[in-house]
Amino acid sequence: MQWTARQIMQDAPVIPVIVLHDVAAAVEMARALVAGGIRMLEVTLRTPVALECIRLISREVPEAVVGAGTVCCASDAEAALHAGARFAVSPGYTAALGASCRSLGLPLLPGVATASDIMRAQDDGYTELKFFPAIQAGGIPMLIALGGPFEHIRFCPTGGMTQANANEYLHRPNVLCVGGSWLVPADALAQRDFARIESLARAAVQLKG
Ligand code: 3PG
Repeated sequence: MQWTARQIMQDAPVIPVIVLHDVAAAVEMARALVAGGIRMLEVTLRTPVALECIRLISREVPEAVVGAGTVCCASDAEAALHAGARFAVSPGYTAALGASCRSLGLPLLPGVATASDIMRAQDDGYTELKFFPAIQAGGIPMLIALGGPFEHIRFCPTGGMTQANANEYLHRPNVLCVGGSWLVPADALAQRDFARIESLARAAVQLKG
């Protein structure tokens, strides 16, 4: 199935932002998130093993929909797609990245932090956007302000989100989901504590209740 950006954002209240240093943890981590009710997974291209982890998850965990995060240029998007990524998330937006993802047929959630970023992304047809870095870029007051001129834009605030503050964001009318790393803590991965990751996912699914 080909997912749209909107479907990706509406599947669960949270898209986990995942940093993997160890290929051996990837499959069990993905299974834990899926068991907890989260299947849209953003594996960031920040480590040398990230593409291999995407490849493994897409092959071994068919219930998951694995995407690539930290996609910054056309070659990142191509590599992610070839590894099995079903969507891409970027920290910012460039027309080159937008065009590349469109020609690859790879759904993109582009990062934006300003009105000009949004105007550039929507010029190229992108209306479902990651608001990044959410807290540093103005948090809820900024989302309210952007909702005036950009009523039809929908956001995934990411950066500084936690189980405690996510609900405030999720209840904004222009927010469909949030992104955050708290579902997959580095120490849980290091300790192979997949039960903890599953229970963090389970709690996150209850958000916006
Ligand atoms: C990131 O770039 O790492 C994401 O924005 C996640 O940020 P967080 O760790 O604050 O959730």
